[in-house]
Amino acid sequence: MNVASEASIELAIIGGTGLYKLAELQDVETHQPVTHYGALSGPVRVGTLDGHRVAFLARHGEGHSLPPHKINYRANLAALKALGAQRVLALNTVGGITERFGPRVLACPDQLIDYTWGRISTICEEPGTEVLHVDFGEPYTRSLRTAVIAAATKAGVAMVTDGCYGATQGPRLETRAEIARMRRDGCDLVGMTGMPEAGLAREMGLDYACLAIVANWAAGAGPDPDEVITLQDVLDNVAAASAGLPALLRAL
Ligand code: HPA
Repeated sequence: MNVASEASIELAIIGGTGLYKLAELQDVETHQPVTHYGALSGPVRVGTLDGHRVAFLARHGEGHSLPPHKINYRANLAALKALGAQRVLALNTVGGITERFGPRVLACPDQLIDYTWGRISTICEEPGTEVLHVDFGEPYTRSLRTAVIAAATKAGVAMVTDGCYGATQGPRLETRAEIARMRRDGCDLVGMTGMPEAGLAREMGLDYACLAIVANWAAGAGPDPDEVITLQDVLDNVAAASAGLPALLRAL
């Protein structure tokens, strides 16, 4: 990869569904490197936020053209690392399963369960690469989670400061029985992109935390068990819940 980076990036942000750009970034440069792992989801926008160098990448592409299982998670993280990022904040649009995680809630989960399949989930894939067995008992970086939670407090943004994220394969939403099983398993939130991203970040030695934005009750989890989840509801709730994000990111 051939990436010039004069100053390192203090924070890299990966945006999920409904979060395709960071309008507050100033003096934006665009990088779109081809990595050892292939092409990333789209351009990395690097700019300044209150004088701090920040990178932003839309996980699904800026036009949301990539479904969760087609995202090149390895390339995305490798590119951010090559640009000089050490801390990665993942913004993930999710469904809420348990009572505290209704639509428009922001949460910083501390655990995850991986239900995805068939995705390249390691950097130890190619023959000859060193086999890593990274510790993943605590899947998100504690110091970055602490900083995110402190930033939310400083910015006056309400946030649930724990929770278990269940990563499903998608792109379809889940059945009610699948969500009931996830609830029994201990999941509070459900999304499609939390893995393998978090595991790859650990393998690459990056600090990584998730800021989950609840867009809807997961199937059968809300007060109306027959509710049909629409994309418009998801986008409306993400837009409403994201109102406090710029202040939170500035505080971070
Ligand atoms: N399930 C999975 N992923 C999601 C959901 C959901 O209900 N809502 C937003 N992303």
